[in-house]
Amino acid sequence: MLLAAGAGVAARYADATAAADATSALDRLLGRRRMVRRFKPDDVDAATVRRLIAAALRAPSAGHTQPVGFVVVRQPERRAALGRAAFGQTFVGDAPVVLIVCADVSRSRPRYRERAERYGIIDGAFASMCLLLAVVEAGLGACFVGAFDDAAVARIGELPPHVLPVAVVPIGHPAEAPRRMKLRAVADVVHEERW
Ligand SMILES: Cc1cc2nc3c(=O)[nH]c(=O)nc-3n(C[C@H](O)[C@H](O)[C@H](O)COP(=O)(O)O)c2cc1C
Repeated sequence: MLLAAGAGVAARYADATAAADATSALDRLLGRRRMVRRFKPDDVDAATVRRLIAAALRAPSAGHTQPVGFVVVRQPERRAALGRAAFGQTFVGDAPVVLIVCADVSRSRPRYRERAERYGIIDGAFASMCLLLAVVEAGLGACFVGAFDDAAVARIGELPPHVLPVAVVPIGHPAEAPRRMKLRAVADVVHEERW
C-alpha cells in the first residue's frame, strides 16, 4: 500500500523538474546559480554592490519589519579575518568584496518577542537568496557562508549586540565554473498529507 502511494507520487512529479528547467527566465536563472569559491582579483564596483543589495531588499520580511542590514567589507585584512572567522575558509578573503548579511533584531523584537531571532535569520536568508540570484544575473559569483564563529564575525564587522550575523557572502568575478550539484527528485521530497 505504502509502495503504491509512493509510486503514485513518483509518477505525478517525475518530469516536473525537467519540465520546469526549460520554461522560464526564472528557471534558467535558478539553474545557473552555483556557489562560487574561486575569484579573480578584479574589483566589483560600489554601484554594482548597491544594485545587488537593492535586489536583496526585495525579499520578504516578517511583518515587513525589514531587519536586514549589510556590512560591506573591502579591506584585505578584514576580508582575511572573515575567512579565519569562517573556520579557515580562506577563499572568503580572496573575493574583492565580502558582505556580512545581518539581522537587526531590535526592529522585530517589539512585535515578535521570542520569535524575533528566528524571523531575523529567515529574513536574512531570504535576502541572501535574492542577492545570490542578482549576483548570477550580474555575471558575478558568490558563496553563502553560514559556518562561522558568530562572536568573531560580530567583532570584525563591529556589530552592536542587537545585530546578528546571518551570513558571510564573498562576491567577485568567478575564477571557476562549479559543477551542478545533483538534486533530489521532487517525488523524493514530497509527502502527501503526512510525512
Ligand atoms: C545554511 C547554509 C550554510 C552554508 N555554509 C557554507 C559554508 O560555510 N561554506 C561554503 O563553502 N558553503 C556553504 N554553503 C553552501 C552549500 O554548501 C551549497 O549551497 C551546496 O553545496 C549546494 O551547492 P550549490 O549552491 O552550488 O548548488 C551553505 C549553504 C547554506 C544554505
